[in-house]
Amino acid sequence: MVKDPVCGMELNEAQVKHQLQYMGNSYYFCAPGCKALFEKDPEKYLKPMEGDFMGERKVAIVGAGQVGATFAFALMISGLATNIVLIDQDSERAEGHVMDLNHGLSFVQPSRVYVGDYSDCRDANIVVVAAGAGQKAGETRLDLVRKNTDVFKDIIPRIVRYNPMTLLIVSNPVDVLTYVALKFSEYPMNRIIGSGTVLDTARFRYLLSRHCEVDPRNVHAYIIGEHGDSEVPVWSKVSIGGVSFDQYCSICGKRCPEDVRQATFDQVRNAAYEIIKRKGATNFAIGLALVRIVGSILRDENSVLTVSTLVDSYYDISDVCLSVPVILNRNGISRILKIGLNESEVKKLQASASVLKTVIKTIQI
Ligand SMILES: NC(=O)c1ccc[n+]([C@@H]2O[C@H](COP(=O)([O-])OP(=O)(O)OC[C@H]3O[C@@H](n4cnc5c(N)ncnc54)[C@H](O)[C@@H]3O)[C@@H](O)[C@H]2O)c1
Repeated sequence: MVKDPVCGMELNEAQVKHQLQYMGNSYYFCAPGCKALFEKDPEKYLKPMEGDFMGERKVAIVGAGQVGATFAFALMISGLATNIVLIDQDSERAEGHVMDLNHGLSFVQPSRVYVGDYSDCRDANIVVVAAGAGQKAGETRLDLVRKNTDVFKDIIPRIVRYNPMTLLIVSNPVDVLTYVALKFSEYPMNRIIGSGTVLDTARFRYLLSRHCEVDPRNVHAYIIGEHGDSEVPVWSKVSIGGVSFDQYCSICGKRCPEDVRQATFDQVRNAAYEIIKRKGATNFAIGLALVRIVGSILRDENSVLTVSTLVDSYYDISDVCLSVPVILNRNGISRILKIGLNESEVKKLQASASVLKTVIKTIQI
């Protein structure tokens, strides 16, 4: 087995069709596109593979609003990044956050936090994009599509000009904008990631943990599909400490009929609406979800997370970004996991993909 240095895909002998020599070493690629990217800038792809990944770790945040600033705060506390740069069209707001964050530096591990511009995306391990309009009370994520597609048309080319390693899209509607970001850049699909349903999955695990009276870290469960109204709970794969949900119900003795399940899922799906109605935005849990995603990349963790990615022939779904469980490491998405879904879950996932495709058709890419 060899690894494509651009997309990180593991290749067996039969798959190795594209090869080149650089500085006396042979490198192998899954497709001409990866080979072309490598030829353009070999050092960009060799540095993270061979260098000390835990040396300089730079995260740029484009959009220093509620989400961007809360993520910056959580990231600073986590000690994962050595450099955190905030970029926003409202430079005063970014400056205010940076001053405030820097005043806390004596309480956390050392890092450099500063205001930057797009040129600061150079050498960034990850650029997190949380710029654009937020969801207002009564507005769906898909309502935001035109406003934020225009923002992305402006900012994505300005970011990719400086060749950062990976882009993590957070702005909503996140699946559509992840697709838009892929179209506006030449990046391989494993390096443009949407935060997807990582947050929804966390909400689902939390609610199940409360219902089952088990630590959320011992609840395995996924929300997949759109980060939005058509998202899909994968009940068939819920496991409490390795025990399937149905089996657990008989152990715990609590009655858990269909309406309890539906009510739990409704709380997950409507969580953002309920929070926005009360405080105008969601920021804390998404900030932590982003730290989890960024950590799995910076620390090369091979974590399984439900991020939004371009799928191809996934239960007959292609050419749309939506969330499915993937393995995340320093190469971004290293593998998409095809989990066994039951018939009704497959139908719901396909319906979710159709909703997203209909929206994508309405925008000019
Ligand atoms: N994916 C998720 O799970 C999730 C969760 C919460 C929020 N969001 C989304 O994240 C985005 C940000 O939400 P928020 O609450 O922080 O909004 P916000 O209004 O508080 O902040 C948005 C920031 O983007 C900046 N901005 C706008 N256009 C820009 C441009 N062209 N260039 C640079 N900066 C620009 C604004 O100046 C502002 O500081 C929204 O789209 C929201 O819907 C996603």
